[in-house]
Amino acid sequence: MTGRWGAGIPPNVNLDTPSAARMYDYYLGGAHNFAVDREAAERAIAALPATVAGARTNRAFLQRAVRFLVGAGIRQFIDLGSGIPTSGNVHEVAQGIDPGARVAYVDLDAVAVAHGQAVLDGNDLTAFIHADLRDVSSVLDAPELRKVIDFAEPIGLLTVAVLHFVPDSDGLADIMARYRDALPPGSYLALSHMSMTGQPKEFLERFKAVYRNTANPVVLRSRAEITALFGDLDPVEPGIVTLPLWRPDGISYFTEAPERFPGFAGVARKSG
Ligand SMILES: C[S@@+](CC[C@H](N)C(=O)[O-])C[C@H]1O[C@@H](n2cnc3c(N)ncnc32)[C@H](O)[C@@H]1O
Repeated sequence: MTGRWGAGIPPNVNLDTPSAARMYDYYLGGAHNFAVDREAAERAIAALPATVAGARTNRAFLQRAVRFLVGAGIRQFIDLGSGIPTSGNVHEVAQGIDPGARVAYVDLDAVAVAHGQAVLDGNDLTAFIHADLRDVSSVLDAPELRKVIDFAEPIGLLTVAVLHFVPDSDGLADIMARYRDALPPGSYLALSHMSMTGQPKEFLERFKAVYRNTANPVVLRSRAEITALFGDLDPVEPGIVTLPLWRPDGISYFTEAPERFPGFAGVARKSG
């Protein structure tokens, strides 16, 4: 098969179970999804009508956060749960400001990895690593990551719309502590996460039920639980807020009051 799949569908793709990466690709209008993903995505949209605007709002937060971080002097990024490449990827935004910016993408989804590696082929300042972020050493010690990331310099660690796929029982608090510890002083963590607030509870429960039948069940957390994921890093202004309220730039996809957005985001600095 050619076209959107280039050299073909990667061999290890499960075509029977929807995946969060491919459903998110569908919300964003991408072409790297299958019928099983589109059906689940339509069920998620029916459950929570804010889903498509939510995905676009999240992507826009990611891009604002990267621009902020380049402005703060960050020139290298680790993007955990980066998703299937789409327009406005981290390296495009960062290299648009400084062509020397470096990015290591990490995802466990086979389609994200195959497409990511194809898109980045020949770009020596980037790498796409197939890993599970819960296995912290396999991410941080990956030779491909070490080729583009220098742990002697501040890093922008991005965990955008991914930690709600990691339950507490997988040791999320410890996982995040290990990532924060590995960051050199002057590094930043940018994070967004779906919450259990903003939208009617029954919408959110139905949305969760759709994801229960995918490869990536969703965990909705409170603002306090999401804030705790930053540990002792110092949040920059305006703190941990709903996504539309984080340093808005006038482009808005979410048409309801910003407080009704079902997710929180922030960017925090490691002192030093
Ligand atoms: C909703 S997408 C977000 C993509 C991108 N970060 C963004 O915000 O635009 C979530 C991504 O996280 C990935 N993911 C989920 N659990 C993961 C894990 N344990 N390790 C690595 N990636 C994971 C999924 O495969 C998917 O591509």
